[in-house]
Amino acid sequence: MMSKFMEWVDARFPATKMWEDHLSKYYAPKNFNFFYFFGSLALLVLVNQIVTGVWLTMSYTPSAEQAFASVEYIMRDVEYGWILRYLHSTGASAFFVVVYLHMFRGLLYGSYQKPRELVWIFGMLIYLMLMAEAFMGYLLPWGQMSYWGAQVIISLFGAIPVIGADLTQWIRGDYLISGITLNRFFALHVVALPIVILGLVVLHILALHEVGSNNPDGVDIKKKKDENGIPLDGIAFHPYYTVKDIVGVVVFLFIFCFVIFFFPEMGGYFLEKPNFEAANPFKTPAHIAPVWYFTPFYAILRAVPDKLLGVIAMGAAIAVLFVLPWLDRSPVKSMRYKGWMSKVWLLIFCVSFVILGVLGVLAPTPGRTLLSQVCTFLYFAYFILMPFYTKLEKTKPVPERVTG
Ligand code: HEM
Repeated sequence: MMSKFMEWVDARFPATKMWEDHLSKYYAPKNFNFFYFFGSLALLVLVNQIVTGVWLTMSYTPSAEQAFASVEYIMRDVEYGWILRYLHSTGASAFFVVVYLHMFRGLLYGSYQKPRELVWIFGMLIYLMLMAEAFMGYLLPWGQMSYWGAQVIISLFGAIPVIGADLTQWIRGDYLISGITLNRFFALHVVALPIVILGLVVLHILALHEVGSNNPDGVDIKKKKDENGIPLDGIAFHPYYTVKDIVGVVVFLFIFCFVIFFFPEMGGYFLEKPNFEAANPFKTPAHIAPVWYFTPFYAILRAVPDKLLGVIAMGAAIAVLFVLPWLDRSPVKSMRYKGWMSKVWLLIFCVSFVILGVLGVLAPTPGRTLLSQVCTFLYFAYFILMPFYTKLEKTKPVPERVTG
């Protein structure tokens, strides 16, 4: 019965072909490690955000008058509303934790290098859209930090010469952040950006499956194939990696549920304290800081004394990641076989990024500003010097086959 049905479907739609191309006959390197859990986890968190988002929308009211109260209604009166909201708000932070680790894996094993440049570019576009999605979502509860955080970020566009003032007004749709801004952010957050992100994820995976996955050794497994044309170091994604990924999913869900049940606001880092007070355009909070996943870039912005140059530096900090595949000129991919300079610079980059993240949460002092300037300098130095140190350093010989 089933095979007859599949024959009928396959004559009209490539169901079996797609299953084989992307799962049962997609041969992935057999040496995937811990860092390879985060792609499938990103998919899981994406589904969580969409499902919980749809349910939240059923009880949320997108108007300046009622948004804050409707979120309180979800938290107190809607059945299981509290867990839906925490799954979504904690899910946003989980998304960035997962995506940052996923990107770090790319840096570690040179997964952005030829022929995976487009996989990386689609990934960066996802990251950019994810930041826009999170920023717009944060306005929706219409709390104090929603309002003032958006105020700070949107006003940055005012630093652009000539068009700045008109541009900020165009983004807000009003002379100040108002219900009109809330409505458009709602439309973009709930409809437009999720569609774009989903489309980009499809492109990301299609591009990856066209060239095949990289691995912790950075060895091209397609170079050594058996008589049937199957890579000697490859194993079918399904069932081997689907089963392995379930382990990652279970561990992730344990940690995720623990956070949701015991620390859903993470002491003000996932949901900031001023956001439990309704937006008040007449009362500026004592200290405005974005949510933790934006703070490295916010610290770069504040490190530069001039507003326009600060905005440019912040934009450049993200833009430079797009051209990473062309900055790395190493003959090898994985950090395992790169020289000491690549290792030291990756360490410097990661430490600077984390320090910037911490500084972005704190109120500025002269000492902290100096430290953020040093870290901003190191952040950019990692990229600007990359063509030189990756070319100059001595690399180790890459094995013929993966080392396990
Ligand atoms: C919604 C967000 C994302 C989802 C759902 C996603 C999904 C995936 C999946 C399922 C894989 C294959 C499994 C794996 O290698 O872990 C993958 C690979 C990859 N992703 Fe993503 N990704 C996302 C964001 C990003 C971002 C932001 C970047 C970097 C800018 C990125 C860069 C890469 C690279 C370079 C690979 C190939 C890794 C390799 O073969 O070693 N991804 N992604």
